[in-house]
Amino acid sequence: MTGSNLLIKGARLYGEGDPVDLLLADGVIAEIGPEIGTGLENPDDTEVIEADGLVVLPGFVDLHTHLREPGGEDAETIETGSAAAALGGFTAVFAMPNTDPVADNAVIVEHVHRRGAEVGLVDVHPVGAVTVGLAGERLAELGTMAASGAGVRMFSDDGHCVHDPVLMRRALEYATALDVVIAQHAEDPRMTDGAQAHEGAVAARLGLAGWPAAAEETIVARDCALARDAGAALHVCHVSSARTIEVLRAAKAAGVRVSAEVTPHHLLLTDAVLTSYDPVNKVNPPLRTGSDTAAMRTALAEGVIDCVATDHAPHPAQAKDCEWAAARPGMLGLQTALSVLVHTMVEPGLLDWRGVARVLSERPAEIAGLPDQGRPLAVGEPATLTLVDPDAQWTVRGAKLASLASNTPYEGMRLPAQVVATVLRGRITARDGDIRK
Ligand code: DOR
Ligand code: ZN
Repeated sequence: MTGSNLLIKGARLYGEGDPVDLLLADGVIAEIGPEIGTGLENPDDTEVIEADGLVVLPGFVDLHTHLREPGGEDAETIETGSAAAALGGFTAVFAMPNTDPVADNAVIVEHVHRRGAEVGLVDVHPVGAVTVGLAGERLAELGTMAASGAGVRMFSDDGHCVHDPVLMRRALEYATALDVVIAQHAEDPRMTDGAQAHEGAVAARLGLAGWPAAAEETIVARDCALARDAGAALHVCHVSSARTIEVLRAAKAAGVRVSAEVTPHHLLLTDAVLTSYDPVNKVNPPLRTGSDTAAMRTALAEGVIDCVATDHAPHPAQAKDCEWAAARPGMLGLQTALSVLVHTMVEPGLLDWRGVARVLSERPAEIAGLPDQGRPLAVGEPATLTLVDPDAQWTVRGAKLASLASNTPYEGMRLPAQVVATVLRGRITARDGDIRK
């Protein structure tokens, strides 16, 4: 029965306590309690989800998604990327500006925002570029983008580092004035010129030019000092190196307004997978060592790394089916994020479901300043949530994912936990693997 109300029966909030029913009406959580269903006034107007054994979490928020539109529609569109997001349990995504044309002005960010709203599967928040054309030379009009209809909250040159310290300092000063966040792709380009793989034994054996961890660590250290001086909110994209964590720990202890994300692939995969030379594993920053992934997991559990962000980076086949050096970096992430997080963090006991809600929903919503996402599961709050089957197992098949591209590094892998339904302001956007328009 499809209706305007939704009754979720027998789910466990944050995976804790006894199962409860949740009645969702008019876009909010109207009631939570045992056995609500029996007293419903309009049973015909209510869609029921039997949620025995399922966990209910606030909808996931991804601070780092590449939707590729405009200009890269052979890899992904706002429509296909939104579908992948909803199927992955996400209710909000931040779309990176390295599109063609670049999202460095109000026209493009408003287009992305409007198109996301038309598709309506997930809240699409455009990230504005920090510099014009991502060229690292002149600041883009941050204020105009922030004041535009898209209400840009986060700026990044992702794919490129804002390398010039004077420009980065100025961007952070604007960020303070505008109350927005600068998300840095921390990579000193002088140190990674020609780099192909994490600098270490594997790269040496494979004959791939090394990518030093210090290229990340040094930029993060510099940016923490600049953010401190500017009183600005700095967000560090896709942390990959254990030593960066120590920089973050010290900066946080000193009161710097810095937050950080880790991708699912930097929690799970190491440079050991590179021996196949399969460019599906090529990503920026590169996959590093087992001690780095172990450090990422501990830092995420402790909160030194605040959240998980996918860096969902679809690429067309021709950008990946080529020799390693010519291949584009990046991998899909939206539909596998939860499962990889459960595999790397929940199964080993590093995170419980409350922790999953923190790193996939609450913290990213707070970092980006979203008022209506990552909210507590309580009466009167937005009915924006994700239902998860913690006991499911599934096998990843790139061709079956909703993305136009199929560059998943998890092809054929069996992973735990599955999204059963995603609900955005009371409306089901995905259920049992299908999109609901
Ligand atoms: O691997 C990556 N791919 N890292 C980035 O920073 C950019 C992204 C992309 O746009 O493909
Ligand atoms: Zn990046």
